[in-house]
Amino acid sequence: MALDLSSRFTSKLHSERVAAQLGVWLGISFTIAFVTGLFSHFMQHPPGWLLWPSRPVNLYRFTQGLHVIGGVATIPLLLAKLWTVYPKLWQWPPFRSMGHAAERGLVALLVAGSLFQVVTGVTNIAYWYVWPFAFTNAHYWTAYILIGALLIHVVNEWAKVKRHALPTRVKLPSEPPADARSRRRFLATVATASGIAALVTVGETYKPLSRLALLAPRSPDKGPQGLPVNRSAAAAGIEVHADYRLTVTGAVGRQLSFTYDDLLNLPQHTVRLPIACVEGWSYDAEWTGVRLKDLMRTAGADRDATLSVESLQKYGAYSVSEVRPPHWHDPLTLLAVKVNGETLHPDHGYPVRLIAPNRPGVMQTKWVTKVTVS
Ligand code: HEM
Repeated sequence: MALDLSSRFTSKLHSERVAAQLGVWLGISFTIAFVTGLFSHFMQHPPGWLLWPSRPVNLYRFTQGLHVIGGVATIPLLLAKLWTVYPKLWQWPPFRSMGHAAERGLVALLVAGSLFQVVTGVTNIAYWYVWPFAFTNAHYWTAYILIGALLIHVVNEWAKVKRHALPTRVKLPSEPPADARSRRRFLATVATASGIAALVTVGETYKPLSRLALLAPRSPDKGPQGLPVNRSAAAAGIEVHADYRLTVTGAVGRQLSFTYDDLLNLPQHTVRLPIACVEGWSYDAEWTGVRLKDLMRTAGADRDATLSVESLQKYGAYSVSEVRPPHWHDPLTLLAVKVNGETLHPDHGYPVRLIAPNRPGVMQTKWVTKVTVS
């Protein structure tokens, strides 16, 4: 007869109580990751009816920072949970019934989905593109599978969660004091590891802690003009010729065309706005340029118009971005020609770049040459 080897794991930390308590923390962090991830997805791919507000200015910076920093802080939690429950792999017989087999299949899916999200997320923020598939698509669809499996798992395990991890008036059989102490010590260690993981990443968006940002792939003050960049002008194949023009075309009363010097002679405005990257890092800068709404007024664009802002960059998903009314009506939205008082460095989008509040960095189009109104 086969033996149930799971009984060989004698640590009291492989317990239902520890698994339930870690499960609550993980459930919260996965839910936050799911909600903030969907926020990022639908900011970049909004359905036609969805008009994101342009304020608060730092909203996307906050949600995507939370997604990535929260995701990194989840790693110790996930590892601790997997360690707590791994003796179940040696449980014999592996399935007691069809229902039990289905439940274990679901847990396998949950574990695989969690590891997939964390591993692909971390390799993506480290700019380590080792996967043969498109990260965003795979990460996006796995999120639904993971959250679906998590929901069913929570329903299946609800009685244990209620018993061990939620405040209840029902008196539980008392735990031996030594076991309670080691459980609390274990949970405190996991919480500290998560806190440290967050602390050594948060500097990528919170400048006062930038010196602690050991895990952050981008430091907020390293790069041309003291600001980081993801895609350089050379990598994007940008060449700016003497006949450069910025044109405004499409459904307008008047087509516009500007040389770079014409743009410098239009009324200039300075705003303080962050570049908030989809990969979680962000930095503030002072941008100077022409208000997009002023250009649209001059061109006679309809107030409900949607704008398509095109780059000199010929290829790539981010060579065009859409600007809907709440963003282009906002006086903070500029076609910027300067950053921190200096002419834009080519890597920051010289001659002209879009900068708008509450918007992912990939949608702050650089090397702008055309605005099409529709
Ligand atoms: C260490 C953990 C994680 C890291 C570092 C991470 C990182 C990222 C990054 C960098 C993006 C932006 C991708 C882009 O727009 O180019 C993203 C998007 C997203 N993440 Fe995560 N993530 C993690 C965990 C999770 C988890 C656990 C979930 C689900 C529960 C999740 C759900 C999503 C979703 C739905 C998106 C939107 C994808 C899209 O734009 O289509 N992430 N994540």
